[in-house]
Amino acid sequence: MSRKPQAPEPAPAKDSANPLWGGRFEAAAADILQAINASIDVDKRLYDEDIAGSKAHAEMLVATGIIAVADGAAILQGLETVRQEIAGGRFAFDVGLEDIHMNVEARLAQLIGAPAGRLHTARSRNDQVATDFRLWVRRALERTDLELKALQASLIERAEEQADTIMPGFTHLQAAQPVTFGHHLLAYVEMFGRDRGRMRDCAARLNECPLGAGALAGTSFPIDRHGTATALGFAAPCENSMDAVSARDFALEALAACAIAATHLSRIAEEIVLWSSAQFGFIRLSDRFTTGSSMMPQKRNPDAAELVRGKAGRILGAFVALAATMKGLALTYSKDMQEDKPPVFDAFDALSLCVRASEGMVRDLVVNRDAMEAAAGTGHSTATDLADWLVRALGLPFREAHHVTGRIVRAAEVKGLALAALSLDDMRVIEPRVTADVFGVLTPARSAASRTSYGGTAPTQVRKQIARAKERFL
Ligand code: ARG
Repeated sequence: MSRKPQAPEPAPAKDSANPLWGGRFEAAAADILQAINASIDVDKRLYDEDIAGSKAHAEMLVATGIIAVADGAAILQGLETVRQEIAGGRFAFDVGLEDIHMNVEARLAQLIGAPAGRLHTARSRNDQVATDFRLWVRRALERTDLELKALQASLIERAEEQADTIMPGFTHLQAAQPVTFGHHLLAYVEMFGRDRGRMRDCAARLNECPLGAGALAGTSFPIDRHGTATALGFAAPCENSMDAVSARDFALEALAACAIAATHLSRIAEEIVLWSSAQFGFIRLSDRFTTGSSMMPQKRNPDAAELVRGKAGRILGAFVALAATMKGLALTYSKDMQEDKPPVFDAFDALSLCVRASEGMVRDLVVNRDAMEAAAGTGHSTATDLADWLVRALGLPFREAHHVTGRIVRAAEVKGLALAALSLDDMRVIEPRVTADVFGVLTPARSAASRTSYGGTAPTQVRKQIARAKERFL
């Protein structure tokens, strides 16, 4: 009888299975599992937060007598070494170790040996990653707040300088009423102020610590969750351990705030694109923020503004991606949730670029006052001022004044004249009581100067708004 060749024995378990949970596994992961499962390329950005969380946890384990003082000291020292290695670019990340948590712990074991194995007492990667991620988002919100504040400062500075510059104010992108450029810029200061408020609200609401929730149910060890929460700058521990490891609404809320801020940035970017076009000619972007064309030598393209506008789509996409990932998940943790980090990192990176590029463009742009003021007089933009004058001087009801003004505008149009260029006689054909006084309200500058209501466009009001904005935002 011929003997069939034997199938090769499975590789010995101990060497190939995962060092952190190899106990119940015989074989190593398939390559494709490793490829889909590993997150280290993304979540290595959490290293600082991960090590801070581990230090707080280790100190708590010592303080509560769960681990020995000597083990705790070795762990803390080892963690600091790991932190310095990563910060200094001297750390070899291993994709086989899946994520930042296991990379750090495995290196700690190399550095200090057996005590490293005690760090994960009363902890799971589920509460660990939730803690790291909250810390990261909290920092990102703080950084974004400073960047938005700098953008507001540049807008306020330019508004102060442009408080008297007359430009057309638009509705439907049609000249509506004359406004001041300073007033227009201050509108964005308000939007970015609310964006900062949303980010502050989000940072305050996320400031509860998941650490100590364990995998989902808490732990049987006598841990001190209030202690670790305080050590990491959280206001309190998360109240419910299952919520602590399941919740990602802090990230969704941050992404929503980013998406809304991005829409504001996109709108000012769109205006910069329009204003800097030859057709408008309201502003000139500096060379530092203009690109040329490889074919058309005359071109000065506002690429940075276009990309700010473009990235708004991507930032909104990040919110949609995470919302879609989370919406179907039964409690508590599922690995789907590892997909939470790429959109958040990407959105904050993109937003930071957008805010800083916008600040640069606002600081550098050169204003063409003449073009703005000339455009402010087109489209019979002072028609409302004429109607208001008819109400004030002749006591007409506004509806009637509106009708009379409409007829006068039509007369101007028929003659191909601007409203202010129409003669008194021409106006009197329509309303005999009109006097030469009316011309006092028909120029764009007079029109803007007359809008002195609170928050209005008159330079006097704009200066007051600037003073208040400095108090409120800077
Ligand atoms: N890398 C994982 C993540 O980012 C860490 C948590 C893993 N937890 C687990 N039960 N497999 O979500």
